[in-house]
Amino acid sequence: MRFASLVKRKPVLDDNPLTRPGPAHPDIKDADIARLVTTFYARAREDEILGPIFNRAVDDWDHHIEQITDFWSSIMLRTGRYSGRPLNPHLRLPIEAEHFDRWLALFEKTANDIFQPEITHEFMIRARRIADNFELAIGTMRGEIRAPRHAR
Ligand code: HEM
Repeated sequence: MRFASLVKRKPVLDDNPLTRPGPAHPDIKDADIARLVTTFYARAREDEILGPIFNRAVDDWDHHIEQITDFWSSIMLRTGRYSGRPLNPHLRLPIEAEHFDRWLALFEKTANDIFQPEITHEFMIRARRIADNFELAIGTMRGEIRAPRHAR
């Protein structure tokens, strides 16, 4: 029966790279993640769209880079080095869809300069989902999107 086969099929939402256990790729090293993050923020600070936002908001760049390196180490290698609340600072920033697009394009370019394409892909499928989550939360906070049903 067609209906029975639909019921048995695994839902697509099951396959979320953000909740998959284990390292995202066997060839990713913490030292390369540190290089990616340092290079990315050096470029982001100089970027005409992202630079003004970052330079106004970040006081301590060493602390920011360390925090983001721990964040990506936890996401990509499951090291558990980051246990903060990544969304919070973004809710207060003047960021729009164009900033997220630019952030993702610059992050992808930087990852491609450091990693082989399969590894860049593993970073990007996670970065896009996180950016989508942030964008949805920002839209909800600003009243552009209805609050989720469980919170109404
Ligand atoms: C338009 C894009 C973005 C801008 C302008 C932006 C800017 C910022 C700023 C200003 C902070 C606070 C830094 C500080 O006070 O030291 C921050 C924190 C952070 N950002 Fe972003 N961000 C963007 C997108 C993203 C994305 C896409 C990710 C993840 C994929 C991300 C991950 C983080 C994390 C993990 C923190 C640290 C949060 C904490 O523990 O306090 N950001 N970001």
